[in-house]
Amino acid sequence: MSPCQPILVFAADLACRAGALIAAERERGGLTLSYKEGVELLTSADLKSDELIRSELTAAFPSHRILSEESSPAMPQEERNQGPLWIVDPIDGTVNFAYGFASVAISIAYAEDGVVQAGAVHSPFLQETYCGLKGGGATLNGVPLRTGDCTQLERALIGTGFPYERQDRPRLVRRLNHVLMHCRDFRRIGSAALDLCWVAAGRLDGFYETLKPWDFAAACLIAREAGALTGHLGKVPEHIPPDLCGEDVVAAGPGIYHELVALLRAVPPEEVQV
Ligand code: IPD
Ligand code: CA
Ligand code: CA
Repeated sequence: MSPCQPILVFAADLACRAGALIAAERERGGLTLSYKEGVELLTSADLKSDELIRSELTAAFPSHRILSEESSPAMPQEERNQGPLWIVDPIDGTVNFAYGFASVAISIAYAEDGVVQAGAVHSPFLQETYCGLKGGGATLNGVPLRTGDCTQLERALIGTGFPYERQDRPRLVRRLNHVLMHCRDFRRIGSAALDLCWVAAGRLDGFYETLKPWDFAAACLIAREAGALTGHLGKVPEHIPPDLCGEDVVAAGPGIYHELVALLRAVPPEEVQV
């Protein structure tokens, strides 16, 4: 048994408990809404979920660091890279959550020296729990996962997302336009963690987006363990471990991964300038 198996069980259970909390908060009504830096939606449930996850992790693993979107997003890179680190998104898909959509997840990953060892993604409204263990496979509600077997980009269903800051959107729309001309269609799910888990489950054939570590750390491992290829469009800076680098993340089934990466890299330079 992998030494991280008990860690994964702990993470999955905690993600489920946080999921029950946010589902109850939405059901109860009266969510408080605010905006981070004037644009990024934050609900009272994001903060309650963060508080629950953080206090349980601190009680169980007092010496471990926690990189959480809501309570420690500015942790210096050197601290992220060393020793045991938990990477937490207390609600991935906050906009979906606030609008009553079901595609919402809690994401908890565990890394050692910058390498993700275990990841749990739980979707309370879909009652789905995705788990991945480095070298140990991936599961959905305990059933082993396998990515799709699509081999032609023109038959591929691709997911992506857009940042809250608007200045980069024109460039991303031009990139999307380029890819859209070569694939079956796009889906914009609104939770990057679920996008990647859905690549793992074969519900999407590929996915790309620029993300933060808490969006993808757990789900990228799950996708990889389900047989997907994952990587980056550009060169990963030397001081950032690839598992923690969110710039232009790509994941896809092995039958289309290289074609998708080549297509994304081939967007004419004038089309990616703002
Ligand atoms: C967001 C979601 C969304 C993605 C954004 C993320 P949040 O996370 O994953 O799908 O497109 O880039 O920021 O803010 O809901 O935790
Ligand atoms: Ca997120
Ligand atoms: Ca979030």
